[in-house]
Amino acid sequence: CGIVGLIGENIKVIDLIEALEKLEYRGYDSAGIAFLKDGVIQLAKAKGKVKVLKDHLQSVLKEHTENGIAHTRWATHGEPNDINAHPHIDCTGKISVVHNGIIENFRSLKVRLQELGHNFVSETDTEIIPHLIEEYYNGDLLEAVRKTVLKLEGSYAIAVIHSDHPDVIIGARKGSPLVVGKGDSVVGLASDVTPLLKFMKDVIFLEDGEIALLRKNELRIFGTDGIEHNCKPVEITWSYEDAQKSGYKHFMLKEIFEEPSCIVSVLTGRIKDGRVVLQELEPFEVSLKELQTLKVVACGTSSHAALVFKYFLENMSDVTVDVDVSSEFRYKKPHIKPGSIMVAISQSGETADTLESVRLAKKYGAKIISVTNVLGSTLTRESDIVLYLNAGPEISVAATKSYVAQLVMLYLLAIKIIQSKESTGKRDFVDKLLRLPEVFENSLKGAESIHAIAKKYKDFKHFMYIGRGYGYPTALEGALKLKEISYIHATAYPAGELKHGPIAMLGPDFPVFSIIPYDSLFQKMKSNVIECKSRNAKILAVTNDENYELKELADDLIYVNTSDEQLYPVLMTPAIQLFAYFVADELGLDPDKPRNLAKSVTVE
Ligand code: G6P
Repeated sequence: CGIVGLIGENIKVIDLIEALEKLEYRGYDSAGIAFLKDGVIQLAKAKGKVKVLKDHLQSVLKEHTENGIAHTRWATHGEPNDINAHPHIDCTGKISVVHNGIIENFRSLKVRLQELGHNFVSETDTEIIPHLIEEYYNGDLLEAVRKTVLKLEGSYAIAVIHSDHPDVIIGARKGSPLVVGKGDSVVGLASDVTPLLKFMKDVIFLEDGEIALLRKNELRIFGTDGIEHNCKPVEITWSYEDAQKSGYKHFMLKEIFEEPSCIVSVLTGRIKDGRVVLQELEPFEVSLKELQTLKVVACGTSSHAALVFKYFLENMSDVTVDVDVSSEFRYKKPHIKPGSIMVAISQSGETADTLESVRLAKKYGAKIISVTNVLGSTLTRESDIVLYLNAGPEISVAATKSYVAQLVMLYLLAIKIIQSKESTGKRDFVDKLLRLPEVFENSLKGAESIHAIAKKYKDFKHFMYIGRGYGYPTALEGALKLKEISYIHATAYPAGELKHGPIAMLGPDFPVFSIIPYDSLFQKMKSNVIECKSRNAKILAVTNDENYELKELADDLIYVNTSDEQLYPVLMTPAIQLFAYFVADELGLDPDKPRNLAKSVTVE
């Protein structure tokens, strides 16, 4: 879920809605807003995307309000409908709350509040919060919120308004992100910086257990003990324009086309005289030299980047890389030795399972290197070293440019590890990395032909993605992209596994998307493609080779101009991303906001 709150002289209802639109990637099952007008809280909620809410509010969009809070929901407790949508209110209708997170002890609190005479209308955990505040309120809203959050177990980022305090918004966080900031004329809070960029450059990332008091022209932060904190704002380098579509039909397409500049951002200043320079890793220099095994945790697309990292580092060195999906790692016996290193990969830096994995590893004495795109995210604060991707805001739910940026950062990390052991190592690969931005541009040139292919394939109900070696993680990512945004069933296998089961499914209705670069495994892959073809499956292939055998074999070919085997995972990625994008778009779906998904999964 995403929350936002704005207070200032010239706030209009439309400002809150536009701010909410920036957070829609966090969930869009329903949306709601509460704002003050003539001392009375005005509440509006609607099932569906923010657009539905905006249409409801057409007549008041231009109206001024003293303050307001808003929410876009990714349902966890209670189905997505108007009643369960936030904001929630207390019995008096004077207190209104939006919440991101899960209150684990809400049932026991609800029973107690019901005994005290409170009436509940929704099935949500959130609704207990305004009622608890009501219980504790005796004229001091900050104090009532402070007492309330002390009772909450679980995770929360909340924003609270009270009709008797038109000049105040209170925010608080534990476990869910919350950013606060003061601009020239607006003081605001939000789940991430993007809605605030329009109003301010400097923000504060609240720590767990902090409570923010927002007034017109004033921002103060307190602990749950009531003691004021002196927090230093951080300047945000992302601009408001970065978070706009800039003429593209969807953010996803824009973000795919931003990949070349992301690669440049990741590489800038990181390579000198054939050596990878990652100053952040200086404190780990000795550990990296002696490193033998490395643990990596990640979820979703980030876990595919982790797999590429494993293939690359293991192929290039003697280091063993253990990759676990975070949601599995956190409940396993961790096998972590004190002083060992864990790499945590998370675009958002907020994925709950990855954070818990990191906490577990730290308990056993691991040091954490995180790879993330979001400044000030929870992961950055819990890591020993942070490698920032600097890819700019990624708004579309499906990860695209952040994946490419992760891959490039992980190549750098791998080379850094190798060069810590043998100072002159892998210069030839470093040179290839330097040429990558230029070579990568070619990967986007085929967009129009990929569009044409997507039109041909859009009506199939199943897809099989196959690859070997470096092609395998790309196959996994290709299948995930297609599933996420087009809702077409897609499954991915290492090509050698086909005969152990999956090939049974193939036939004319089940196309095979094959990642088949001309590398050391080309002949093996070709045999697998022939196996699929002999089951009458249509063959769609991404390759860098124009040899006639493949031309005869495949029904459709996407060419990528490269001969660098280790870089295939980056260079072939636009092909699978663009294919998924165009299929979804051709099916009339919104690739930026796929159903049932959220970009930042801050709950388990
Ligand atoms: C969600 C998103 C995916 C993303 C995954 C991990 O499921 O929809 O696109 O890959 O979370 O996110 P992270 O921010 O940890 O990389």
